[in-house]
Amino acid sequence: MFNKTISNYSNLLFKLNYCNAVQKSLQILEKTSLIPHVPVLFQTVTQYLLPGPNKTIIDMTFGAGGHSKEILKRFENVKIYALDCDPISYNYAKTLQKEHPGQVIPLLGKFSDLPLILKSMGEENILVDGILFDFGCSSMQFDKAERGFSISKNGPLDMRMNNVDPNQLTAGEILSKIDEVDLIKILKIYGEEKQAKKIARSIVSARSLFKINTTKQLADLVESCFNDNCNRVDKLLRPAHSATKTFQALRIFVNNELNEINFGIKLAYKLLKLNGRLVTLTFHSLEDTIVKRHLQSSILQNKKYKIDALKYSSHDFFYDNEILEHILKRKWKQLHKHVIKPNEDEINWNPRSRSAKLRASEKVF
Ligand SMILES: C[S@@+](CC[C@H](N)C(=O)[O-])C[C@H]1O[C@@H](n2cnc3c(N)ncnc32)[C@H](O)[C@@H]1O
Repeated sequence: MFNKTISNYSNLLFKLNYCNAVQKSLQILEKTSLIPHVPVLFQTVTQYLLPGPNKTIIDMTFGAGGHSKEILKRFENVKIYALDCDPISYNYAKTLQKEHPGQVIPLLGKFSDLPLILKSMGEENILVDGILFDFGCSSMQFDKAERGFSISKNGPLDMRMNNVDPNQLTAGEILSKIDEVDLIKILKIYGEEKQAKKIARSIVSARSLFKINTTKQLADLVESCFNDNCNRVDKLLRPAHSATKTFQALRIFVNNELNEINFGIKLAYKLLKLNGRLVTLTFHSLEDTIVKRHLQSSILQNKKYKIDALKYSSHDFFYDNEILEHILKRKWKQLHKHVIKPNEDEINWNPRSRSAKLRASEKVF
């Protein structure tokens, strides 16, 4: 009993020391800008993606390459297609390519561009072992005032993940033209903003007086729609800026994020080998709902088909063949019982991970 307690205690101490060490080194690296984006749940991602020697992975959201670097560090001869629509991430991928010649293939584009990119490389028929999506924006995008995503740092109202794409409208351009009814819909649906009508009205009134060009102008304008004692909180009851939901809605609209996710998961299914693995990290319920719906018909690992239990629940009950076929032809097998979230340690040293949800599945049909 005593020995067991000592052993538990030393395990705990080891874990604490390990977490502290990782935390300290990541904080130091981030402060010195060596890590522009701290990867979320990187050990769990690697564990589920299961890259081994000679495996091929597509990192659909390369960012600063945090997850890809971890995979390259742990496994030999892994090949990684590193996709991102942000030219800055593309440059990071090119640097990583130099460090790992023949192993990293940088690709610049959106999920919806990938089929054409692969075709232009003569690789439209590739099948890969693993695909990772770490949705949303990177810290490099959120933290740089000039990218226009930040409520707290004043910058041009841009919000394009690919900020050099002349064909994509910036958030400022959208706000200067959009119809009030459409703006209400965007704020309601993409921002889940209850005050959508009020905010849209005040944006439309303001733009007849001046051009809404900066993040500060927009943040102040939205704030003015709320009375002083209306202190907003997020889902975890922490204080939140009144414009958080408006910024989220615009960002999603500017980058067509939800349609991209929907397309991306369908594409992942097509590009994965049988038994290939899909790992997704989502950061809000709109993203997670789309992913969940695609994977919904998943079979829990280590559980018999539920149909067995149902089949014998009544002696005179039979499924019709079409339903049976549909149930048995499920595309994905979920590899864990409950959705995976970062633990308290990770949230403490990387607060941006707090709303992350990881889902890992295997293509089974
Ligand atoms: C959260 S960051 C990824 C961070 C990365 N896993 C790391 O550890 O450094 C998300 C990245 O996905 C990219 N992204 C988002 N939507 C995209 C899309 N539809 N197509 C391509 N890249 C996208 C963003 O530009 C951003 O760099």
